[in-house]
Amino acid sequence: MSQFWKPGAEKPRILDDEEGGVLFLASSLSSSSSGYGYGSIEKQRLRLPVYKYRTAILYLVETHATTIIVGETGSGKTTQIPQYLKEAGWADGGRVIACTQPRRLAVQAVASRVAEEMGVKLGEEVGYTIRFEDLTNSGVTMIKFLTDGVLLREMMDDPLLTKYSVIMVDEAHERSISTDILLGLLKKIQRRRPELRLIISSATIEAKSMSAFFQTSKRHQGLEADDGPRKDPAILSVEGRGFNVQIHYVEEPVADYVRAAVSTVLSIHDQEPPGDILVFLTGQDDIDATVQLLTEEAQANGKNKGLIVLPLYSGLSRAEQDLVFSPTPRGKRKIVISTNIAETSLTLEGIVYVVDCGFSKQRFYNPISDVENLVVAPISKASARQRAGRAGRIRPGKCYRLYTEEYFVNEMPAQGIPEMQRSNLVSCVTQLKALGIDNILGFDWPASPAPEAMIRALEVLYSLGVLDDDAKLTSPVGFQVAEIPLDPMIAKMILSSSQLGCSEEIITIAAVLSIQSIWVSTKLQKELDEAKLRFAAVEGDHVTFLNVYQGFLRSGKSSQWCHRNFVNYHAMKKVIEIREQLRRIALRIGIVLKSCERDMLVVRKAVTAGFFANACNLEAYSHNGMYKTVRGSQEVYIHPSSVLFRVNPKWVIYHSLVSTDRQYIRNVMTMDPSWLTEAAPHFFQYQRPDPIGH
Ligand code: CDP
Ligand code: MG
Repeated sequence: MSQFWKPGAEKPRILDDEEGGVLFLASSLSSSSSGYGYGSIEKQRLRLPVYKYRTAILYLVETHATTIIVGETGSGKTTQIPQYLKEAGWADGGRVIACTQPRRLAVQAVASRVAEEMGVKLGEEVGYTIRFEDLTNSGVTMIKFLTDGVLLREMMDDPLLTKYSVIMVDEAHERSISTDILLGLLKKIQRRRPELRLIISSATIEAKSMSAFFQTSKRHQGLEADDGPRKDPAILSVEGRGFNVQIHYVEEPVADYVRAAVSTVLSIHDQEPPGDILVFLTGQDDIDATVQLLTEEAQANGKNKGLIVLPLYSGLSRAEQDLVFSPTPRGKRKIVISTNIAETSLTLEGIVYVVDCGFSKQRFYNPISDVENLVVAPISKASARQRAGRAGRIRPGKCYRLYTEEYFVNEMPAQGIPEMQRSNLVSCVTQLKALGIDNILGFDWPASPAPEAMIRALEVLYSLGVLDDDAKLTSPVGFQVAEIPLDPMIAKMILSSSQLGCSEEIITIAAVLSIQSIWVSTKLQKELDEAKLRFAAVEGDHVTFLNVYQGFLRSGKSSQWCHRNFVNYHAMKKVIEIREQLRRIALRIGIVLKSCERDMLVVRKAVTAGFFANACNLEAYSHNGMYKTVRGSQEVYIHPSSVLFRVNPKWVIYHSLVSTDRQYIRNVMTMDPSWLTEAAPHFFQYQRPDPIGH
């Protein structure tokens, strides 16, 4: 490689060595390379590292209430352990084995892989459930993959999760907010259901702290030896078979990681032997940009022959996902440009080179300003090691870090912060309240949330009318909000639309807001902007979405229509699906389905009823479109993707906030400040005596 790179001094072997308290079993692992590309599926299964531990795993699950399993990505935890459990009879008698994942795409991918391995149709013996999509068959499904968020929702109908015999909480090291809530609740359930078994599995872990969390008090230990499983958790470490990965760092910090990633990929392709390349970037925007730039530059240099460039992020269609997982044809080199979903959730075969930009998209919440932000932020050393490890699965590999060694050693944090400690807790509190957990501060959390964030959440929920003076769910509003599987602010907007007579429109808006974008991503920015203008409404993005939706329906849901208008056809089909589900939920909880025809005033009032906390006011003498949030006086700007970009109306309400060089508000709507005090008198009085009059 060029001089740009220098090999790092870090120990290249990427394995976590846990000490003390860890049960290491015989490691007579076969040294055969991966099962990729040859051999039957059955043979591939037998070659996975986890297979050597099959008996041990089944024994520990039989004898312990909780088993913690740590094993390198790709060792077979997710796809094999549920099958072992099924083979051992844990799904007999109509019981179900659950396996949770923090990400929806992973749920779909592993479920279809396991169905294939078992030779069954997906949705029968093996199924999955993600929000707004249930592919299971009650009474038939034995292994069910689902997001941790969906399992939390299931607790509302079945608080003890009685249909499950074993619940495997997978990817626990990710410490998503739903995983943490789930761990806290499962610990409670275990006390009531001694026959329930938990498996906590992850790629890296602080196995000891997880074990300490599930440890019951000393007093109870040992008493149940004869009449039930042991209460102290078992820890099993699956020894992987990772190959050495040589780490390379840049010598100088890079200014633009998209460009740096592209040139690194091209020089690997130029100078290194065959093997696929996995590039870690942060989100759809920079991934699409990289795919584009890479394709162009490869073409310009005449190096495009033999290159297959593919994006990987949630929100891809099934066909696009399949391409990523299908084997690379002989003589070709696959380049997968991914979010951190490929860090541990999904295993890609054939990867020999990894390019790591050193960042990922993360949620950050500031309880003081009450702003929750999606930020491109540095990853941790633990993540960087995981990413590098992806290169050593089939043979020794190389990892190119787009940051300096000095930065890695001295500045990169050792571990990430659990999402619980950097999120807005409005949804979390509502869910716990709906499950009857009243003392939220006293709840047994794997990581305690900040008290300020908790207080803010209680305050917003009180203003939304979800909680009463005693911080209990109100009836019916609080219970209805909890029933809707969306953010409480969206749920409240839907409830208000029932009274305002515009629920059909608001449900459409809610469906659009719950997907990433309805526009295609294209570099034809001018054409896209022109297409948007055809639908643009003076009221802002929410009403614009209604116009697009109407147009789509009028076209007979035509894909050509979408293509002509730069509208994402897959996204629109998803909107229709989600909308249908939301209508069903709305009917169930007694919402009157009604259209307001073209009365956009009531639509905007309904949005305000949910999102009053996100009100912003244009700074009086601002020439650059600077707004301040009414609540925390944060400086924000309308995102260029909004139809209100450069229009800059005086008062707006936003749906979400992203930070790049500035804090940008996305999905923005105009509003009248008098609606704020109408929607939440307490909130604005409390925050600012007179938000309107200054
Ligand atoms: O969960 P863990 O990271 O330990 O491994 P896994 O996801 O169970 O993957 C085990 C093996 O199955 C790997 O070798 C994967 O390549 C393979 N697999 C696959 O080929 N296709 C999938 N969609 C999922 C897994
Ligand atoms: Mg896994």
